[in-house]
Amino acid sequence: MKSLAILGSTGSIGSNALDVVRQHRDRFEVVALAAGNNIDALLKQMREFRPRLVSVADQGLAEKLEARWADQDRVEIFWGPEGLERIATAEGADLVVSALTGSVGLIPTMRAIDMGKDVALANKEVLVMAGELVLQQARDTGSKLLPVDSELSAIFQAMRGHHYEEVRRILLTASGGPFLGWSREQLSGVSPEKAMGHPNWNMGKKVTLDSATLMNKGLEVIETRWFFDIPPGNIEVYIHPQSIVHSMVEYHDGSVIAQMGIPDMRIPIAYAMSYPQRIQNTLPSLDLLHLRTLTFLPPDRETFPCLGLAYRALDQGGTYPTVLNAANEVAGQAFLNRRIRFQQISGVVERALESHIGHPVRSLEDVIEADAWTRKECSRWVDGG
Ligand SMILES: NC(=O)c1ccc[n+]([C@@H]2O[C@H](COP(=O)([O-])OP(=O)(O)OC[C@H]3O[C@@H](n4cnc5c(N)ncnc54)[C@H](OP(=O)(O)O)[C@@H]3O)[C@@H](O)[C@H]2O)c1
Repeated sequence: MKSLAILGSTGSIGSNALDVVRQHRDRFEVVALAAGNNIDALLKQMREFRPRLVSVADQGLAEKLEARWADQDRVEIFWGPEGLERIATAEGADLVVSALTGSVGLIPTMRAIDMGKDVALANKEVLVMAGELVLQQARDTGSKLLPVDSELSAIFQAMRGHHYEEVRRILLTASGGPFLGWSREQLSGVSPEKAMGHPNWNMGKKVTLDSATLMNKGLEVIETRWFFDIPPGNIEVYIHPQSIVHSMVEYHDGSVIAQMGIPDMRIPIAYAMSYPQRIQNTLPSLDLLHLRTLTFLPPDRETFPCLGLAYRALDQGGTYPTVLNAANEVAGQAFLNRRIRFQQISGVVERALESHIGHPVRSLEDVIEADAWTRKECSRWVDGG
């Protein structure tokens, strides 16, 4: 029996992880859950999965939750950043599912790694902000990191039984998002509602927007660089609108190993949760005869500059990827709040990279400082400063 703590249990990844638990009650139990504001969803999860510890975004929500839970089994209720750390370090949890969105996940995920817990990592921003530190700490504490992102899971699966030194290239696939094939002119008036219409995946707001700008693929390039220790020049991005080939690994002998499957996150989530075994599910099989065609295209880097900005931040190294990530979070939120236009997102990120005076990342404090600087500057710019 594997015991789980889930950070971000009410989100898209978190609830899919709980669906995997629901299908395999004999393999998994839930000891701790962390949500943000959605206490209705959390209460339902508490009734069904009976965790011992839970956390919510703030004290007011914790009090409301406590009042609504009153006559049931005893559950310890925490809140805020400290609450997230309590869930990440919950006693008895063997595997922490890191599924918060954005930079808020960095510290709790790091705390789980500090304790040597295994981590199923969906929260890609953690590796983007502090990849080298996180991987080093995992090596030091013996914490196993298991990728949840479908592309990284694909690479992980395609590399099973192979040596890193034999890899020639990683080919990361991207659906292209809702604006695939659009021109700059067409993009000028897009609304947040249009940007939320992903063709193949049903995901949280931030990752859906990042897919529309192609920043999501840029973040995954950085994630891949750290996770698999691959030089950025050996990571290429292919647009693959059907989202069936989740990524590929090319070896020195010219062999290319691809991982395929229907676009359903429960597949990579279950693989991370049950690794090194594979567990059954009731999802439909991939029907290639029905699909017939799989297409691959180069990304349009002129119309979607965020991908190039991510490569640039990775090349610059040090604090630049942290700056890229924070600028993208501030600009993305400003777009969703209708304060800037879609195409200004990349402009804010570029300005942040240009204004920042980078330095090496030696500790989490370096990361936190660069993140705070970027948020302050970018918030000023999106407010017209
Ligand atoms: N969704 C996908 O298919 C997918 C695929 C690959 C990778 N990922 C990555 O996985 C991560 C999660 O994505 P998602 O789509 O599942 O996001 P999501 O649906 O927006 O869920 C985010 C979760 O984090 C919680 N949360 C957010 N801010 C919080 C805070 N300050 N304190 C406590 N809890 C907080 C939310 O709680 P409330 O809802 O209760 O407020 C929710 O449970 C992201 O890094 C994303 O890039 C997602």
